[in-house]
Amino acid sequence: MASNSRTLSAAADPGAPAPGNQWSSRLTFILAAVGSAVGLGNVWKFPYIVGENGGGAFVLVYLLCIALIGVPVLTAEILAGRRGGASPIRSFGIMAARDGHSAKWQLIGWLGGLCAFLILSFYSVVAGWALAYLGYAVGGDLSAAGGADDVGQAMGTLFETLLASPAALVGGHTIVMAITILIVASGVRGGLEKAIRWMVPGIFAILAGLVLYAATASGEFGRAAHFMFAPDFSALNWDAVLVALGHAFFTLSIGMTAMMAYGAHLQKDAPLGSSAVAIAGLDTLVALMAGLAIFPIVFAAGLEPAAGPGLVFVTLPIAFADIPGGTIVATLFFLFLAVAALSSTISVLEPVVEYLEERTRLTRRGAALESGGAIWLLGIGCALSFNVAGDIRFWDRNLFDLLDFLTSAILLPLGGLLIALYVGYVLPDRAVRAELAGIGPRGYAVLRGLLRYVAPLGIATVFVYGLM
Ligand code: PHE
Repeated sequence: MASNSRTLSAAADPGAPAPGNQWSSRLTFILAAVGSAVGLGNVWKFPYIVGENGGGAFVLVYLLCIALIGVPVLTAEILAGRRGGASPIRSFGIMAARDGHSAKWQLIGWLGGLCAFLILSFYSVVAGWALAYLGYAVGGDLSAAGGADDVGQAMGTLFETLLASPAALVGGHTIVMAITILIVASGVRGGLEKAIRWMVPGIFAILAGLVLYAATASGEFGRAAHFMFAPDFSALNWDAVLVALGHAFFTLSIGMTAMMAYGAHLQKDAPLGSSAVAIAGLDTLVALMAGLAIFPIVFAAGLEPAAGPGLVFVTLPIAFADIPGGTIVATLFFLFLAVAALSSTISVLEPVVEYLEERTRLTRRGAALESGGAIWLLGIGCALSFNVAGDIRFWDRNLFDLLDFLTSAILLPLGGLLIALYVGYVLPDRAVRAELAGIGPRGYAVLRGLLRYVAPLGIATVFVYGLM
């Protein structure tokens, strides 16, 4: 995918960390950032956690988290990346030294690096599911299951069979990690950026089609919309609020410095606030569309909204089995989902590789191979936690669930809290003002207020109540 673009000029090659190396345009930056943000988090995770946490009230809290905490932290992260200019892990140390602050702020970078390891190891396993389903679509398994008397049950069995196979899960995970390592190692994103250019609209188009299908054919669109948008606060507890907050970070790719790495290559005069709003807006739209496509099918097929991680893989194939040309639509959908996942995985690995490249004697290729290899090993544990290693429990969770919880609910919000505090209080005001030139005095005051008060207090409150 990326190999044919090796000839691209350095200016269009954000992968190479040479200083002064910039995105070819702001649009390219936004596309890459949207590529990072839009992924399995939107299509796989969002619908299933909405289902598990009772619907509307959870969605409302999630939207508030995106608007009041996610957007400001995203802006702060891109800002910090552009100002630091180095690998994200080192950028905080560099900025702190430059402004005469404690070198301990580099901790944010270290936390981010740790998060990258943990997130990628389980994310890659789910991306492998998307690949497996691409195979099912092409191989006719989906249409075969679609011919069963009880389609819902047949699709459920297909998913369970996949999870029960260590070879299939480890195989899918291995392919995803291999492609991720290859793209990051080559340092050339041109090919991927081109893929994102049509992939994001592609996902959009298919989801829109599926929403339309769900709205007309399922007969349960009203119930689904009610489930997603009519808040029932009795279904909400602090656990759910913690999940919503954590997912806001996960879905925007913030709290672990991934967006810093992309911000480091952004032109000095590109406006940050509007970029962050655009990225968050598109990301949220994709998530809501996924929900609106999935829940009508859930209700029409008599499935459980709280079915868990298999939700999208069991429901959408039911629609694919029903619509004319379903095999082609299913093939395109899982292909797009796999590409969307890959444009996220590369953004997770990128900060780690940039750091290793700067601080060790490893080449980019060696750095990608060694860090990716270590993540691959940990990911095998995640894959096996669905079958042979399912009984190995940590605080009542298998390894997959543990890493998901640890990163989304704890490490990402913690990273986000520190980033908000750093940009809100530590970074000199004139620096922040200079980076945000163009946002206007009122916008500046709002953003500053969100970063200094709303985001830190919000995160701290949810932490205290959610973890108790
Ligand atoms: N935002 C990505 C998604 O929703 C996942 C991700 C998390 C990517 C953290 C980078 C960093 O699929």
